[in-house]
Amino acid sequence: MQAASPEETHRLGVRLGGLLQPGDFVGLIGDLGAGKTHLVRGVAEGAQVPHSEVASPTFAIVYPYSGRIPLYHADLYRIADEDELYATGFFDLVGSGGAVLVEWLDRVPGAAPREYLRITLRPTAEDARELQAEAFGARSEALLAAWLP
Ligand SMILES: Nc1ncnc2c1ncn2[C@@H]1O[C@H](COP(=O)(O)OP(=O)(O)OP(=O)(O)O)[C@@H](O)[C@H]1O
Ligand SMILES: [Mg+2]
Repeated sequence: MQAASPEETHRLGVRLGGLLQPGDFVGLIGDLGAGKTHLVRGVAEGAQVPHSEVASPTFAIVYPYSGRIPLYHADLYRIADEDELYATGFFDLVGSGGAVLVEWLDRVPGAAPREYLRITLRPTAEDARELQAEAFGARSEALLAAWLP
């Protein structure tokens, strides 16, 4: 998928947020400034999370949001390995129901369950991004099929 502007990325996020169900796991991959958090803000809006709740995870590893369903937003940029991630309580939170969005999933691939949606963001111009989505498992395939424009 192509997003020719930040607004387009946001809209893609809003649509995805409207489709998420408890238990869904979305991994976001892309360099600094690729637009991962930008997409998550759209997802949160689509999942009816109050605006003020959404931040870029900086101090905590996982932020819980409450919208139409519980949403967990994590950023693994500073996590060295799976052991360190265990210590943060990440796995307890993500196993507790709700949908999960994880930035920098490639830093700790073991953070992902067997079935999940992986979205890779790549800049193609200053304001344009390519979003490549790959679904693992039947539920993620259905989610992706519903999300695709
Ligand atoms: N098409 C686009 N989609 C998303 N963001 C875009 C786009 N074009 C430009 N941008 C800009 O790129 C930046 C993306 O920042 P964002 O914080 O979302 O990146 P990130 O991938 O979360 O980075 P980090 O790894 O630092 O968390 C924003 O400043 C946004 O305005
Ligand atoms: Mg970010």
